[in-house]
Amino acid sequence: MTKVVAITSEKGGVGKSTLAVHLAGAAHAAGRSVLLIDEDGRVGSSLRWAARTGGLPFQVMAAGDVKPKRLSAFDLIILDTEGRPRRRDLRQLAERTDLILVPSGVSTLELEATRELLDFLSGEDAARKTRVVLTRVPPVGRAADEAREDLREDGVTVCNAVVRHYAAYQKAAELGILAGDVRDPRAEAAWNDILALAGEVL
Ligand SMILES: Nc1ncnc2c1ncn2[C@@H]1O[C@H](COP(=O)(O)OP(=O)(O)O)[C@@H](O)[C@H]1O
Ligand SMILES: [Mg+2]
Repeated sequence: MTKVVAITSEKGGVGKSTLAVHLAGAAHAAGRSVLLIDEDGRVGSSLRWAARTGGLPFQVMAAGDVKPKRLSAFDLIILDTEGRPRRRDLRQLAERTDLILVPSGVSTLELEATRELLDFLSGEDAARKTRVVLTRVPPVGRAADEAREDLREDGVTVCNAVVRHYAAYQKAAELGILAGDVRDPRAEAAWNDILALAGEVL
């Protein structure tokens, strides 16, 4: 069975494409056949990432180019969606996916936006499938632990693994490669965050 994982968020620039590309990379590294579908044509999307010189080791396609019949050939499909989904789109997204990951920064404003999105889903079937991933987490301090606790108190499902804020992710995007392959002292730490998350959610 093909597992379908969508990544969406209430705000732009929170790290959806970064997460999508790296989770696909982790699944590929584990020997799974993975397809990353870019449903967001704008700058910074995973399709543009793949188009840079580095080259990603798995297939990335624009949503418009996908042949639905071919999808069952993959073990895992990751959807990199646009930010701020319309509520109707969000419901539809939930219908065609097994899991919705909502990356969120740990700042008060970002957490508020994330809560809004989750509030809409609460009570819906989709809520069961949705998990928050704390991203761009300051490597020092307890911000992620506090955010996780607060969200969980409100009944939100939050991943234990977090993606910390490392320049290696930015460099990876610029080069069109994965953070673990970047020449950077924190490249391995960045990749380990992804592996931990992949182990938890994929
Ligand atoms: N964990 C992270 N650490 C450092 N920078 C990050 C991280 N995640 C994302 N970024 C950077 O933040 C910006 C937005 O990330 P991106 O993945 O394109 O977000 P989105 O797809 O939600 O718009 C990019 O410059 C990206 O390199
Ligand atoms: Mg994006």
